[in-house]
Amino acid sequence: MRAQLATDFERFKQRALPRDFPSHVREAYGIDLTARYLGTTIPHPIGKGSGQLSLNQGQLEVDAEAGLAFAVLKTVIAQDAGGAQSMAAWAIHEAKMKVERRGGGWTVTWKGRGWDRSFEEYLALARVGGDLTRDGHLLVVPSVKYHLPRLGEPFKDSEYAFTTRALATAWGEPLLLLEKDFSPTLAGDALAGEQAQILRWLREVPVRIRAQAAVRLAVKVMNARFDDDFQMEMVRAASGADALIVFNRLFDPARGVAYGGPELIERNLRVLDRLTPGATPGIPELSGTGGISSGRMILEYARRGCESVQLHTFFQLPLDEYAATDGSRTQRALHQLVFDPVDGLIAGMLALEAQGVLERRGGELHFLDLAANAHHAR
Ligand SMILES: Cc1cc2nc3c(=O)[nH]c(=O)nc-3n(C[C@H](O)[C@H](O)[C@H](O)COP(=O)(O)O)c2cc1C
Repeated sequence: MRAQLATDFERFKQRALPRDFPSHVREAYGIDLTARYLGTTIPHPIGKGSGQLSLNQGQLEVDAEAGLAFAVLKTVIAQDAGGAQSMAAWAIHEAKMKVERRGGGWTVTWKGRGWDRSFEEYLALARVGGDLTRDGHLLVVPSVKYHLPRLGEPFKDSEYAFTTRALATAWGEPLLLLEKDFSPTLAGDALAGEQAQILRWLREVPVRIRAQAAVRLAVKVMNARFDDDFQMEMVRAASGADALIVFNRLFDPARGVAYGGPELIERNLRVLDRLTPGATPGIPELSGTGGISSGRMILEYARRGCESVQLHTFFQLPLDEYAATDGSRTQRALHQLVFDPVDGLIAGMLALEAQGVLERRGGELHFLDLAANAHHAR
């Protein structure tokens, strides 16, 4: 299998990775990469996190062609029927992004802004997303930042109502899949200095959204400026969601930017270590995000209970950082994440088998067994 992996890695370098690579992985290695996001079965765990890489139909089509498992649309800022946005400060154009090294890994400088075009244009993109999802080409999930009130103030339900219903209609049948973004810039905002306030948001926001339309809801939990204990409290408070994305980027108050890289993955895995196994009954499905740049890192999240992962930075590197010389950026990234003979998903799962961490069932290794095992007492 090692020899086969080396051969596959070389051969897919020079010609674009086939869309149906999970079937090849299953036949050649006896590895079942099936994963799950928001209750939906997906052929492998790798999706694209919300951001600049899912702003238009063209990007989604390239991702569908590459065989990406899912893509989360750029976050739109909620509005009411009159177009008023209480979070309007986030609906402005992002300055030019810079991909740079930080702490030995890559990060993209990002101020944390949301969608900066009209809501109608976002609805059009959501419509395309619904079609791609129904046709089985690519699971596409819109993302929204809704009004977050101060303690003692009411939620602006008019924004929750208008935005959620419009998205549900644009999306179509059978059920809108939705992410709620608690952006990391919030960590730099005066509003986010209050623990009771944050916990109220995490508890009440899922209820507010569900009151407006039938949705399957994922909450992207932010990395707050507090300690790991509070991060755990946030996860417990958000248990009204169907899935949690763990955890949004860190915030650098000195530079006023959100950042990722090794520091982010370290913090995320440390908190997840405490959540599993079984330490927090009733936590929803988990989707890992932050600092992932190899298949082995995907497995670190999976071993801590994540059934899928959402990457952004790794899909945004300079082209010469990928081993492959053919295919779209998404194909090149997937090629490396899955087939790298040392750090890829296949190599990593075979290594876990050799260590006795993962066992074959019915002759196959199953990616989802990792998360299932994490939820049982070790
Ligand atoms: C340029 C950029 C824009 C982003 N925009 C959003 C966004 O609009 N909404 C959101 O929830 N997350 C956003 N993110 C966060 C990513 O979805 C992802 O969770 C985060 O970057 C961690 O993953 P990574 O280390 O693989 O980049 C953005 C990240 C970057 C780098």
